[in-house]
Amino acid sequence: MADDGGRHRQSRLFTDDDGSFDAERARDESLPVEGGELIDTDELADHQRYVEGRGIYDERNRVNDLTGKEWKYATKSVIAESYPPDVQHDLRSEHGGQKPPRLCADLIDRFSKAGDTVLDPFAGVGGTLLGASFCEHEGTGLREAIGFERTERWIEIYETVLERENEARRSRGEPPLSEQDVRHGDCGELIEAVPEDSVDLLLTDVPYWHMDELEQTRNERATRESKLGAFDVGDDAATDSTDAVADAERDGTPADESDTQTKAEWLADMAAKFDRFADAVAPDGHLVVFIGDMYREQSYEFLSADLARAIESTAPVTLAANLIWYDPTKDLHVYGYPFSFVPSMVHQNVLVFRPDD
Ligand SMILES: C[S@@+](CC[C@H](N)C(=O)[O-])C[C@H]1O[C@@H](n2cnc3c(N)ncnc32)[C@H](O)[C@@H]1O
Repeated sequence: MADDGGRHRQSRLFTDDDGSFDAERARDESLPVEGGELIDTDELADHQRYVEGRGIYDERNRVNDLTGKEWKYATKSVIAESYPPDVQHDLRSEHGGQKPPRLCADLIDRFSKAGDTVLDPFAGVGGTLLGASFCEHEGTGLREAIGFERTERWIEIYETVLERENEARRSRGEPPLSEQDVRHGDCGELIEAVPEDSVDLLLTDVPYWHMDELEQTRNERATRESKLGAFDVGDDAATDSTDAVADAERDGTPADESDTQTKAEWLADMAAKFDRFADAVAPDGHLVVFIGDMYREQSYEFLSADLARAIESTAPVTLAANLIWYDPTKDLHVYGYPFSFVPSMVHQNVLVFRPDD
């Protein structure tokens, strides 16, 4: 990966197991060192080449453009990194569910090659689209990205973010970020125009499931009743680390629109959509999906596992990994103390699927 303003990304490659930056190692590794030994580049196999400062790249790599050394880091099952609020964050955060563009760029670098096509059918304010553009300057090369979004406001924000970001980049003498192809409408319809096997990576953050109205009414009643009681143990509405309105805001969907699906309907809708999306993904491509779990009704809603099984049951894909994105800087809250253990969610799941043969 090329060096850039986002030094935290590059420095990661020279990070010890305890997470600290190892300057000596960084210096050493600008030499052709692999596995602790200085290598003789004349002895590399025909399919190998040494990339200065990055290690040995194997030309047979069909997944990404990473060297063996970078691959070792990139296959770690936990991404323990906080991405600072940047890239016009104030503007993007009008959408409660936006994802850090540099996190998206890291994932795009792991699961695609320069020049590949990336699709985000639930694009929001463009975390994936911006990530694909960042790959040109901070990763292994530009990807063409297509995004679908049904809310016009989020598209407007993506466009304004790009405009402002590029003004700032030009004033610093940096090359602009490429504009990606964002299409307004319902992803279930827009996917029809995407040719089969034309997408190398589908990277998306699905709209969340929100409790249906019946469940909400039940919770509101329980809250009122528990407030009349001696103490609030088991008052789920009060102890939930997320509630329906917060979920809706995070999703970028108005709350009244989003509270109408039961969980089973949400899973069936996602499964049907991914079945269609999978047709667009090339046989050696990947589908990478952000999904947070929830705590509801005094129990853990394992939405990531439920969604993975639902998608596998309809779409011809197999779950290859569940990466955990853990943000160490996320604020903690006291939920349930001192009567009930309620998790403070500081992670998101990133499901990785591969198309079946
Ligand atoms: C979780 S958000 C994605 C946020 C995105 N990762 C970002 O960085 O901004 C899901 C988005 O999907 C959009 N959406 C939901 N259903 C859709 C559909 N059927 N077609 C197109 N967009 C949809 C919502 O408007 C919302 O912006």
